[in-house]
Amino acid sequence: MPPPCRIAPSILSADFAALAEAIDRVAPVADLLHVDVMDGHFVPNLTIGPPVVAAIDRHTPLTLDCHLMMTNPGEFLEPFRAAGADWISVHVEVDDTADLLAEMVRLGVKAGLAINPETPFEALEPWLGSLDHVLVMTVHPGFGGQAFMAEVVPKIRAVAAAIDQGGYRAFVEVDGGIDAETIDAVAEAGATCFVAGNAVFGQADPAGAVRQLRAAADAACRGRT
Ligand code: DX5
Ligand code: ZN
Repeated sequence: MPPPCRIAPSILSADFAALAEAIDRVAPVADLLHVDVMDGHFVPNLTIGPPVVAAIDRHTPLTLDCHLMMTNPGEFLEPFRAAGADWISVHVEVDDTADLLAEMVRLGVKAGLAINPETPFEALEPWLGSLDHVLVMTVHPGFGGQAFMAEVVPKIRAVAAAIDQGGYRAFVEVDGGIDAETIDAVAEAGATCFVAGNAVFGQADPAGAVRQLRAAADAACRGRT
């Protein structure tokens, strides 16, 4: 039995002036809500911080999946946890991975490591047994609505295979350019959790878009087994 497919709408593509309505539209069909935190250093964009996460958490019971694109995530793990983050991913490209993972465990969040497109699989390998999820970037982080990078698919396959061989609990989440066209390739490669921004909130019917993504992912996962 493959693990269930999860769809994680990314609020980065929602209308921030009407965030509560956007969340309400996908809440009945989404598995979690992906929250992109950008610091203007690790990536060339600025988004949201703990106060907004706290407001979202007060508004919805959905699991909050916070993706920290920051050079200094260690200073913010506790504030994001206190704000309501349930899952947190930090990037493997920043230092102190061991300390960051230990702190996430201490805080009781699901611990993830994110990896940029150009970073090799080997950077993740030592940590796979300690993770709840691996967030494989299929665009250069910083902006929503970018084109999917198909050249990352072999790395998704390598991560999924290593998790399988090691008998680890982690699963593979993918982020960037995921839509009804590209989801097949990443699901077939072993991803089971799919972040989608533009393909959900950029559509007239965000809930219908989530359903469509889930159907495509489920079909691809069935094809893999
Ligand atoms: C990009 C973010 C993504 C983004 C995905 O830096 O990490 O989560 O919201 O957006 P789409 O699905 O539009 O590529
Ligand atoms: Zn993200």
